[in-house]
Amino acid sequence: MKQETPANIFAAAERHRWHASEPGIWSVHGADLDSIPAQSILVTLWDQPRWLEAYHLYDQRGSELFERICDLPEYYLTRTENAILEKHAGDIIANAPVRCIAELGAGYSKKTVHLLTEQLRQRGSSIFAPIDVSAAGLRASRDAVRAAFPAITFHGLHARYEDGFSAIDKNLPTLFVFLGSTIGNFNHTDFPRFFRALSAAMGPKDYLLLGADRIKSVKVLEDAYNDSRGVTAEFILNVFGNINHLLGSNFDRGKMRYHSWFNPEWRQIEMYAVANEPQEVRFPTVPTAFQWQKDEKILVEISRKFDPVRLQEQLRFFDLRAVEHYTDANQWFSVMLLKKVAKADGS
Ligand code: AVI
Repeated sequence: MKQETPANIFAAAERHRWHASEPGIWSVHGADLDSIPAQSILVTLWDQPRWLEAYHLYDQRGSELFERICDLPEYYLTRTENAILEKHAGDIIANAPVRCIAELGAGYSKKTVHLLTEQLRQRGSSIFAPIDVSAAGLRASRDAVRAAFPAITFHGLHARYEDGFSAIDKNLPTLFVFLGSTIGNFNHTDFPRFFRALSAAMGPKDYLLLGADRIKSVKVLEDAYNDSRGVTAEFILNVFGNINHLLGSNFDRGKMRYHSWFNPEWRQIEMYAVANEPQEVRFPTVPTAFQWQKDEKILVEISRKFDPVRLQEQLRFFDLRAVEHYTDANQWFSVMLLKKVAKADGS
């Protein structure tokens, strides 16, 4: 079977920027994905109210804790989305005639397997191109995909989402896959920025498969983010261990607690760390410090919940038109297949 030459997934103008950093994995020349994000952490911690960007949650321990969250009885999202994909993967792939599946995130989850299995069955040899900042995640994905799907060519892109999806050739019919309701973790600034960039990167034969968690009973939502085993609390508060590690700060895990609730006006779960007693948080390398007052909250993560009709309407403003909408019997989760449509002016 003919193997795709690596350069074939990249747009012509992008090819010179990328090199194979290891078999099947591509990196941008000179990119530094591991630089310490000190400024980004300090700027949001000095904001009013204080907050953090969610990606700081995913150090190694954070990633392990998130894996455990996905298996919790209260955390219905992963199970529900997986069941939708298992049931509808054949239909999704039939509706999206592509040669490449580009997943945002280095998954080799059950969900990805359903899509790759159908892609192979319906189209034969194809390309799988996950995009992720974690080289370890891409390696694990590569080894698993090559073992299970030898006819699928693996091109992992070691990059931020935006750099990765913008590099893919617009003439290569591609299904972009963004699952797990990760869009829910984008704030109201990140959300339009992300879809503007993704839509601009998509070609006329491209599709987007998007997983979005829906508004539902407050009890179900709040339990999913405040599980009885305390794994979510552990996951959220672990961010301070990561920040201490990155910046040499002295956040004291013993002096804080986890609090989460569903904010009905903003339609989002908000996950906070709350100080149990006053503490001076010092950043010796900067150097600077702030007083974290007793009962003051730091917003660590939001998880927005969507009305699928409204979301589809919104996505039309980014030239993404819904082709199909898949859901579960409870209507708790939506998986949408969207197509990039040309603007009236043909652009
Ligand atoms: C990754 N993301 C979609 C999860 C969510 O449901 O918002 C992160 C998470 N945080 C706490 N539990 C799960």
